[in-house]
Amino acid sequence: MILAIETSCDETCAAVVQGAEVRSNIVSSQAALHGRFGGVVPEIASRRHLELVGPVVREALGDAGASFADLRAIAVTAGPGLIGALLVGVSAAKAYAYAAKKPLIPVDHLHGHVAANFLEPDPLEPPFLCLIASGGHTLLAGVRERSSFEVLGTTLDDAAGEALDKAARLLGLGYPGGPAIQKAAEGGDPEAFELPVAMTRDPGLDFSFSGLKTALVYLVRDLPLDQGGPGREAEEPPPVVSDLAASFQAAVVAQLIAKIGRGLDAGDWNAVALGGGVAANTLLRERVGELCERRGVGLKLVGPELCTDNAAMIAAAAQVSTSIPYPGYLSFDAFSTDDRPLQPA
Ligand code: KG4
Ligand code: ZN
Repeated sequence: MILAIETSCDETCAAVVQGAEVRSNIVSSQAALHGRFGGVVPEIASRRHLELVGPVVREALGDAGASFADLRAIAVTAGPGLIGALLVGVSAAKAYAYAAKKPLIPVDHLHGHVAANFLEPDPLEPPFLCLIASGGHTLLAGVRERSSFEVLGTTLDDAAGEALDKAARLLGLGYPGGPAIQKAAEGGDPEAFELPVAMTRDPGLDFSFSGLKTALVYLVRDLPLDQGGPGREAEEPPPVVSDLAASFQAAVVAQLIAKIGRGLDAGDWNAVALGGGVAANTLLRERVGELCERRGVGLKLVGPELCTDNAAMIAAAAQVSTSIPYPGYLSFDAFSTDDRPLQPA
């Protein structure tokens, strides 16, 4: 049994996992705390993680009916993410592991999103193609073994979730933007506005969302649009906002689907899987289902709770990552971005 802790952004998470079985998966979201600022405020996130990490770990152990003595190891997201937020999780994990004389398993957050697909029900076996689309990352991963993945393409600018978050802010729909755009889009016409679907003529597997965001900025500037204000998210959006949300969402999804299709062309993949918060998007899930049916490949869609940040996926990755034996991890550090000391084993 592994206890995992995840604090890379604005969710304080702990989970207990045994094999493919999720014994507990606790997520304490700080979204309400950051909402009024329109995005995550790193220092506020770190302070809140500090308050929440102890209670969240206790709840995860309690829900799983487990104690520290039952654990094989303690896993933690080491990066990438907000460095102050990561340090809270890493320090807590080191302290728990040291006190319980257990090994520590540092995990790459992106490997965690891939590894969510190894959990019950129906754990997925490599080889598969995995789109990871979140607030911080958008990449196409080739997964040939459980313990690692190859980055086949990545965003050249904004992440898909970041683009949705920015669009939602522009339309006065609140934070986090992905679910807000999805909700507003329900009543809208996705063909009402023509927005660019970038990179589809580009033969590579990279993504780009900044042009789409700029196109929306110009559209909104030229429309007589009341952008609302605090509290707008509680109201029914005006039809033009619903149409803009639907058109924007459709353009984001079209690019993601085009690149998954191209990834399938370029390799012998048995299945497609999705990870990251944007993978919770209903339109994306529908479209990827249609694509896989057309191409005759398998499809794995984990539940929305395993798409957005959670610690069960970190425990899943930990099972195939290198552990540091007690007590050799006291000087182990978190990492914030690309220059990572840690690669999936
Ligand atoms: O994976 P995640 O929870 O955190 C990061 O590692 O970034 O992803 C958060 C991102 C946010 O940008 C949020 O707007 C987006 O995922 N998101 C969605 C949906 N739910 C969350 N985007 C589209 N549709 C959703 N239903
Ligand atoms: Zn994430």
